[in-house]
Amino acid sequence: MMAAWLGRAIGSCVRSFLVFCLLFFLLLGSCWCNSVERKIYIPLNKTAPCVRLMNATHQIGCQSSMNGDTGVIHVVEKEQDLKWVLEDGLTPPYMVVLNGELFTREVMGKLKATSRVAGVAVSKRRPSEGFSPDSTCPNDGFGVYNSTFEPQYAHCNSTVWNPRGNGLSFEDFKFPIFLLQDENETQVIKQCYQEHNIPLNGSIPQYPLCAMQLFSHMHAVTDTVTCMRRNSLQTSFNINPEEVCDALTDWNIWNTLKPVNISDILHPDNKVIFVAARLDSRSFFWDVAPGAESTVSGFVTLLAVAEALQKAFKDNQTLSKNVVFVFFQGEAFDYIGSSRMVYDMKHDKFPIKLENIYAFIELNQVALRKNSVLWMHTDPFPHKSSLVQEQLKSLVDALNNASQNSNVTLNEISPAQDLPPSSLQRFLRAQDIAGVVLTDHQTAFQNRYFHSIYDTVESIVSNYPEGISPEEAQNLLKDTAQSLADVATLVARAVYQLAWDTNSNTSAIQADAATVSKMLYGFLVKLNNSWFQSIVPAEKSKILDDYPPHYYVAVDNKMNPSRVVQYVLANLTGAVVNLTQEGCQKRQSADMDQYDYYWVQGSLDDDSSTRTPFCIQTTTRISKALSPAFELGDWGSKEYSTWTESRWKEIRARIFLVASHELEVITLVVGITILVISLLVTYFINSKANILFASTCEPGAVAY
Ligand SMILES: *[C@@H]1O[C@H](CO)[C@@H](O)[C@H](O)[C@H]1NC(C)=O
Ligand SMILES: *[C@@H]1O[C@H](CO)[C@@H](O)[C@H](O)[C@H]1NC(C)=O
Ligand SMILES: *[C@@H]1O[C@H](CO)[C@@H](O)[C@H](O)[C@H]1NC(C)=O
Ligand SMILES: *[C@@H]1O[C@H](CO)[C@@H](O)[C@H](O)[C@H]1NC(C)=O
Ligand SMILES: *[C@@H]1O[C@H](CO)[C@@H](O)[C@H](O)[C@H]1NC(C)=O
Ligand SMILES: *[C@@H]1O[C@H](CO)[C@@H](O)[C@H](O)[C@H]1NC(C)=O
Ligand SMILES: *[C@@H]1O[C@H](CO)[C@@H](O)[C@H](O)[C@H]1NC(C)=O
Ligand SMILES: *[C@@H]1O[C@H](CO)[C@@H](O)[C@H](O)[C@H]1NC(C)=O
Ligand SMILES: *[C@@H]1O[C@H](CO)[C@@H](O)[C@H](O)[C@H]1NC(C)=O
Ligand SMILES: *[C@@H]1O[C@H](CO)[C@@H](O)[C@H](O)[C@H]1NC(C)=O
Ligand SMILES: *[C@@H]1O[C@H](CO)[C@@H](O)[C@H](O)[C@H]1NC(C)=O
Ligand SMILES: *[C@@H]1O[C@H](CO)[C@@H](O)[C@H](O)[C@H]1NC(C)=O
Repeated sequence: MMAAWLGRAIGSCVRSFLVFCLLFFLLLGSCWCNSVERKIYIPLNKTAPCVRLMNATHQIGCQSSMNGDTGVIHVVEKEQDLKWVLEDGLTPPYMVVLNGELFTREVMGKLKATSRVAGVAVSKRRPSEGFSPDSTCPNDGFGVYNSTFEPQYAHCNSTVWNPRGNGLSFEDFKFPIFLLQDENETQVIKQCYQEHNIPLNGSIPQYPLCAMQLFSHMHAVTDTVTCMRRNSLQTSFNINPEEVCDALTDWNIWNTLKPVNISDILHPDNKVIFVAARLDSRSFFWDVAPGAESTVSGFVTLLAVAEALQKAFKDNQTLSKNVVFVFFQGEAFDYIGSSRMVYDMKHDKFPIKLENIYAFIELNQVALRKNSVLWMHTDPFPHKSSLVQEQLKSLVDALNNASQNSNVTLNEISPAQDLPPSSLQRFLRAQDIAGVVLTDHQTAFQNRYFHSIYDTVESIVSNYPEGISPEEAQNLLKDTAQSLADVATLVARAVYQLAWDTNSNTSAIQADAATVSKMLYGFLVKLNNSWFQSIVPAEKSKILDDYPPHYYVAVDNKMNPSRVVQYVLANLTGAVVNLTQEGCQKRQSADMDQYDYYWVQGSLDDDSSTRTPFCIQTTTRISKALSPAFELGDWGSKEYSTWTESRWKEIRARIFLVASHELEVITLVVGITILVISLLVTYFINSKANILFASTCEPGAVAY
């Protein structure tokens, strides 16, 4: 009975059983494969890629091939280690894990020249002698000096501003380059390398070897003209357009002491004083742009000036000239923000015109003053009109007067020296105006890490330890904060003299070092602090995270930390109005010519779970910082910035062990052989099933 049942089961279901077996093993196989993947691949979680950017004529940056580039890891800590990669190593291509100090033009040139390199991963190590991947002459060609205008100053012929600049940021690399941002991850890689790849006693390292794979394939190629043309073809012929590149863009932020009607154009008789700084920075790597000295030092000082002057304005509102505080975005890429504002001013798309500007003061890099000396740069070009000459004289006088009872020694630059790279150059290009640029350097930058990943809080605060609490930071930042507050006090007093048109004592005007210290902590170390949390609208609070912020302009990025500047400016210069959320919105639409209203989330209540939001009235506004080249569709412009960023699908990095090519081939051959044999066997069993199972597989032989 039992045997008969068994026989029937085998007999009638032999085919299904075989199919089941096949499925079972496939399933088992795929499970096993997955677990193998999990065991072997280690994703690198804290990296930053170098991506492709394009201007009117060139592409710069890096990319991998479509499916990522793979190579055997070789750690290069000293220059001699390169020899293995370039000549000796037997298992090319290599992924070079490069010590930060060797990330130089010379070494990168060697790696570029060989086909034995699949990619580079740079580990962070601050070179004490300095490092700047920007050019020696930043934003060359887009400032006021060029081959037709003041040619003796063109291309930094007279002053080399950034002598450490090696220009790596403007090179085009055919392989991916990633930054390893986390020391522990670098250790994981080095350990894998040491365990598997180190040649022992001169012998050949044995497979399996530790390898790295980098994915950073870029969609756009050649230059902005090409990629924008492809974008517009896509959008006109495709229902699901896939754009390949985007113009770098974000927002300028500006604010006035006395409200101006933004639906109107200011009358030419109304003079204004511009006080400006820049909002963005950059480095070789995407979205890594700490810009402590290059950017934060200037805009934090400007915020302190705005606060001090707003206090003075509350006491005495009889201004003879309004004051405009401006923060320019995208200046690191051929002056995107300032060139756009000048363009808007010329085309009546901004409430203030170039003719209204009485004086222009720019706060550039100001944190690294030597012996508290601040340098005042002016344009050497002999001003056309005597009016502008007069204005410049009163501006310089006011600054000199303000410096007399201050902790800052203000020095003038030799009259034959050109202006450093600055937003003022874009204004001078359009109109002769009286302007000065304040910096901590006389000629070459004090900043040894201009536009690099190392321009962090440590570069302006000596001995800054990592991972300290806000309370500790207050004390550590004190000296830097005081020194920036001193500069802010000087500027505020000078602007007061000019704006109120008075010679009266200005000693009551004082920038607040405590506020500067809080701002330095927020903008250099951690945006997520209680003050910033209390002054942003609830929906913006996700911008505030725990990591040091980065100021790369990017592509209209909603999470750009520079947007927090808007709310800090509103907090420091605005007024709290007693309105409900609804009332706040109503006032906003009723009053929008003059003021903007923000509904901010407020500080935590005592139970530390709820907040009491409130309404702020402010004159703070934003204006588009998109290069006029894109407004005009002139993608090959030589007048305006044309920088675009390529799009990409995925950016990631991982390490794993690779078998040798021979082993891979053997595995493949064996695999195929087994497959063929099993197919043959299955076919054989299948076709001879009747014979093999004949006795027990009678159809209809049902026996109960
Ligand atoms: C040179 O600069 C002047 C003003 O600074 C500008 O008007 C002119 O267009 C520039 N020429 C070129 C070729 O860029
Ligand atoms: C560069 O500057 C020098 C003097 O500093 C001058 O003699 C020379 O003509 C300048 N070069 C150009 C191209 O203007
Ligand atoms: C584009 O960038 C490249 C690389 O920096 C530079 O050589 C070239 O002059 C730039 N082109 C324009 C039009 O600015
Ligand atoms: C690195 O690892 C050490 C020890 O495991 C740990 O204390 C430290 O916080 C880690 N550092 C980072 C940046 O994760
Ligand atoms: C990255 O994160 C994954 C998942 O959390 C972890 O398994 C892996 O070890 C991390 N990579 C490194 C290098 O630590
Ligand atoms: C390397 O060579 C030394 C002496 O030549 C020997 O003592 C040592 O065991 C060797 N190491 C390995 C891993 O072969
Ligand atoms: C602002 O200017 C517009 C246009 O001239 C005018 O209609 C409006 O009344 C002005 N608003 C205020 C508050 O003056
Ligand atoms: C600067 O100070 C001097 C005297 O201290 C005064 O005569 C002069 O008018 C002041 N200049 C300005 C622009 O206030
Ligand atoms: C000068 O610095 C000291 C502290 O270093 C400060 O108390 C004082 O207010 C500063 N003076 C001015 C005019 O800013
Ligand atoms: C306000 O400042 C002006 C100088 O611009 C001065 O004449 C006037 O007296 C001041 N008013 C008050 C109330 O201090
Ligand atoms: C600015 O922030 C402080 C601290 O959160 C708060 O007390 C003050 O009311 C704010 N002022 C404005 C105008 O938002
Ligand atoms: C705010 O307005 C409400 C109602 O209009 C009023 O009850 C309250 O006292 C006001 N608060 C302040 C601080 O003026």
